[in-house]
Amino acid sequence: MAERAISRFFREGGRPEGTPYSPISHLTITPHRATVELVVLGGFVEVWLAKEGHDGLVGINCLEKIQLSTPATLLGAMIAGVDVVLMGAGVPREIPRTLNDLAAGRIVHLPIDVDGADADRFTLDLDASDVVGPSLPTLTRPVFLAIVSAHVLAAFLARDEDIRPDGFVVEGPPAGGHNAPPRKSVIDEKGELLFGPRDEPDLAKIAALDMPFWLAGAAGTPTALREARAAGAHGVQVGTVFALSTDSGLVDDIRNALLDGIRDDSLHVRTDPLASPTGFPFKVAEIEGTISDRAIMVGRPRLCDLGFLRTPYLRPDDVVGYRCAAEPEHMYERKDGTAEDTIGRACVCNGLTASVGLGQTRKDGYRELPIVTLGSDTNAARQLLEIYPDGWTATQVVEWLVTT
Ligand SMILES: Cc1cc2nc3c(=O)[nH]c(=O)nc-3n(C[C@H](O)[C@H](O)[C@H](O)COP(=O)(O)O)c2cc1C
Repeated sequence: MAERAISRFFREGGRPEGTPYSPISHLTITPHRATVELVVLGGFVEVWLAKEGHDGLVGINCLEKIQLSTPATLLGAMIAGVDVVLMGAGVPREIPRTLNDLAAGRIVHLPIDVDGADADRFTLDLDASDVVGPSLPTLTRPVFLAIVSAHVLAAFLARDEDIRPDGFVVEGPPAGGHNAPPRKSVIDEKGELLFGPRDEPDLAKIAALDMPFWLAGAAGTPTALREARAAGAHGVQVGTVFALSTDSGLVDDIRNALLDGIRDDSLHVRTDPLASPTGFPFKVAEIEGTISDRAIMVGRPRLCDLGFLRTPYLRPDDVVGYRCAAEPEHMYERKDGTAEDTIGRACVCNGLTASVGLGQTRKDGYRELPIVTLGSDTNAARQLLEIYPDGWTATQVVEWLVTT
C-alpha cells in the first residue's frame, strides 16, 4: 500500500511552486480501493509518527459526523497501535462496535446517515483482511472515549453495553475546533453564536455515572487541571496551547500572528454558527488575510475538490448522492439542497489544509487561503507567554501542566 501511494503521489524534490496537488477520488459509501488505502495509510502514519521516540499513550481524535472515513482511519490507526480513540461532533454510538469488530477481525458494517433515507438502510463496509491482505497483524482494541458536552448524551451512551464508551471527554463551549450547538441559539449583531450558563456541562451528573472522564475547553492550565481532578475528573484534554506550540503543523506566520494577538490582547476567536458546512458551530480565529474575513470568504471561488465534509443524501432515483453546503451554490441546489443553507459556509477542508501549509493551488493559479481554529479562551496561552515569551514546545506544555 505504501509503495502504491509513493509511486502515485511522491514527487522527488517536492511540489514545484504553483503546481496543484494531484487529486484523489472522494470518499463515498462504496469507496475505490485506492481511496480506502490512502485513508488507512493516513490513520497509520499519524499514529506511527506520534508514537516515535517515547512509550507514552497515543490517541486519535475523529469527528463522528465524518462517517465515511471512520472505519479505514481507525483500521490504519489500530495497525499503528493506537491506544485511545476519541470521537465527538455527533453521537458516537457505533464506535465501540466498530472497534470491537476491527480487533476481532470481523467485517465492519458502519451505519451511515443518509439525508432522506431510513436510519440503518445504508452501511459502509470494510473488510480489514481484504484491504490489508495476509500481513494484517492482530489488532488490539483501543480504549474509546466519547466527547460529549451534555450529561444527557453521556447518560444515554452509558446506559447500554453495546454503545457504552470506556469514558468521556466533557467539552465546554470555549474549546477549539467544532463545538456542540448551544441549547438555545442566540446570535449577536456580529453574527456570533453565544453560549449561556445552561450550556456548561453538569459535572456532578457526569461524575455520578461512575465512569472515567476528562475535561476539555479552557482546561489547559495547572489550576484548571487541579480543579478538574477535584471535581472527579481523571485529567484534562487540551488543544489550544498545543496548536500554538512549535510542534503543531500551523504555518509559522499564522502561529506568530496568533501569539502577537494574544500578547497585545487583540485576538478575537468567534464561534461561527455557519462557517462549517457540517452545521456544527466552529471556532474561527480572526486573522487578517484568512477566511475569517467575510469578504475574503465570499470572494473565494467555490470549489469542492477535497470533499471530506460532504454529506450523503438520497437522490430522487434512490441512489446515494453527496453534497456540501460550501460547494458552488448551483450544484448544491441541483442536489436538492436549499440556497439558504449555503450562506456563510466556508470551505473548511481547504481552509484547514492551508493553515498547516498544505493549501491547494488551482490550475488557474488561485491559492486556497487558511481558516484557523483555536479555543476562545487564551488565558493558558497568556500564562505560557510569561514563562516562554518566544513560544513553547508541546513537551514544555505537558511539563508545565503536571509539575506546576
Ligand atoms: C487547532 C485545533 C483543532 C482541533 N481539532 C479537533 C478535531 O479534529 N476533533 C476534535 O474532536 N476536537 C478537535 N479540537 C478540540 C480539542 O481536541 C480539545 O478538546 C479542545 O481544544 C480543548 O479546549 P481548548 O482549546 O480550550 O484547549 C481541536 C482544537 C484545536 C485548537
